[in-house]
Amino acid sequence: MKIAFYDAKAYDIAYFDHENEKYGYKLKYFDYHLGPETARLAAGYDAVCAFVNDVIDEPTINALYEAGIRHIALRCAGYNNVDFKTAYGKCHITRVPAYSPYAVAEHAAALMLTLNRKTHRAYIRTRDNNFTINGLMGFDLHGKTAGVVGTGKIGRIFIDICRGFGMNIVAYDPFPAKDTDFEYATLDELFRRSDVISLHCPLTPDTHYIINEESISKMKPGGLILNTSRGALIDTRALIEALKERRIGGAALDVYEEENEYFFEDFSDNIVSDDTLTRLIAFPNVLVTSHQAFFTKEALEQIAAVTLQNIKEFEEGGPLPNEICYNCMKKGTNDCRKDSKRCF
Ligand code: NAI
Repeated sequence: MKIAFYDAKAYDIAYFDHENEKYGYKLKYFDYHLGPETARLAAGYDAVCAFVNDVIDEPTINALYEAGIRHIALRCAGYNNVDFKTAYGKCHITRVPAYSPYAVAEHAAALMLTLNRKTHRAYIRTRDNNFTINGLMGFDLHGKTAGVVGTGKIGRIFIDICRGFGMNIVAYDPFPAKDTDFEYATLDELFRRSDVISLHCPLTPDTHYIINEESISKMKPGGLILNTSRGALIDTRALIEALKERRIGGAALDVYEEENEYFFEDFSDNIVSDDTLTRLIAFPNVLVTSHQAFFTKEALEQIAAVTLQNIKEFEEGGPLPNEICYNCMKKGTNDCRKDSKRCF
């Protein structure tokens, strides 16, 4: 098998090369994104490996199909960047459903603690021999309420962590888990009651801009917003207005709706022309990390192992347990295969 591996970083190459010793596939690492212009470079390969900020839209899929690609192996869990309607019947799409939900939940907790206790600012102050603590006051998490939107794998681990701090939990999920002992409420109620709101749902038409001007107006003044899921869950302009008017206490964002051009890249010697991103970063009560919530050793090992296993299963022609398609999505089951081997 020859695999065209897009958007490859040094850490991807290290973990995939190590895992690939079991398989002996030919991995060709491209440092650019997959998109309509780069798709044709996959001609002559047997599969494509892509990541969260690759553009897998209609022109890309058609170009890949014409280049002979029948399998796109996503090395991530989220798939909002894929046009499944176009892909159906042309390219099988597999993903890594869970690599380390702990990594993401723990990063959300790190963001919550940092944003609340302002350790990011304290670190910079003391390095400059400034030992004052003015402006660094936070609040006790103990006894406060965490509002968790999406109680899947990551959301539930985040809930456990918050409980460790003695926080109360209020959750919202259109498909509530049955075996739980935390409270579900409507989204409106969650917005009203939470001191910290953490987003752990996928990006879908229903969740696009779930945090907007109206929902922010329902939140407690001084409340914190955490987003480790997908950028477009938040209407960034509405968030900026609320921050400017001091209606919320702060926001910690591992994802940003226009992150594709910037995240994972080094612009330290360059000009960032996205005024929204630069405005966000300029707030003292906003913390931006560049989509690193997943970034642990354990997660990278799992990503490499499951992605190469998915490719092997495709090569062997058997069932594809980690496949996802247009029909899966329509049925809302994430699994339309049932007794058949593959989605199509
Ligand atoms: P999951 O599939 O286990 O859980 C998602 C939950 O969201 C489910 O319980 C689902 O019912 C719920 N949900 C669906 N529609 C909803 C809605 N309209 N409102 C509220 N909840 C809704 O997924 P998991 O593994 O917990 O991941 C959650 C998200 O985290 C992913 O979709 C992905 O976007 C993001 N993620 C971010 C990473 C990062 O590095 N920042 C890494 C991995 C995932």
